[in-house]
Amino acid sequence: MAVNRNLVILTIGLLCTNAAFADDQKAQVNYMLHCQGCHLPGAEGSAGRVPPMNDFIGYFLHSQAGREFLIRVPGVAHAALTDAEVSELMNWLVQRFSREQLPTEFISFTVAEVNELRRDVEQSPDTARSLILANIAADNPALANEISKNKN
Ligand code: HEC
Repeated sequence: MAVNRNLVILTIGLLCTNAAFADDQKAQVNYMLHCQGCHLPGAEGSAGRVPPMNDFIGYFLHSQAGREFLIRVPGVAHAALTDAEVSELMNWLVQRFSREQLPTEFISFTVAEVNELRRDVEQSPDTARSLILANIAADNPALANEISKNKN
């Protein structure tokens, strides 16, 4: 009996690991299909046109306005993906490309949050971006130098 129970626990554990792995793979495929054309495979973007997300996008999670901005930008809000797919994609994206810049208390995007935010598409991304980053830098002097290097 004890053995059986251990086996059941082991099997459940393996299934969970596989489910998380499958979500990551799906997120990666969606990134390739829906985002990479502009943002490029390493999320490096292109100077003056598409902002780099690698080693940077995590800074936005240091403020609520920044967190919301990441879902409200047109490329994300208008993506031909479900709310669940967008939340999976964004949770994968920030950790894949910018884990080091995330706040220690990073909380994953939820499906409900994505559903609400993407209805309110940011109409002036460039202005919003500058303002949000300036506020984050002002509130976090330790990050200000790194943030100011990235003006796109
Ligand atoms: C047609 C090109 C294009 C596509 C496709 C695209 N983006 Fe973007 N993305 C941009 C541009 C340009 C910006 C700068 C803001 C703006 O002008 O919308 C941007 C900004 C962003 C930002 C804000 C980053 C910052 O530093 O300002 C995020 C996050 C983002 N995109 C994620 C995505 C994701 C995720 C996808 C795929 C679901 C995607 N984008 C698809 C062009 C694109």
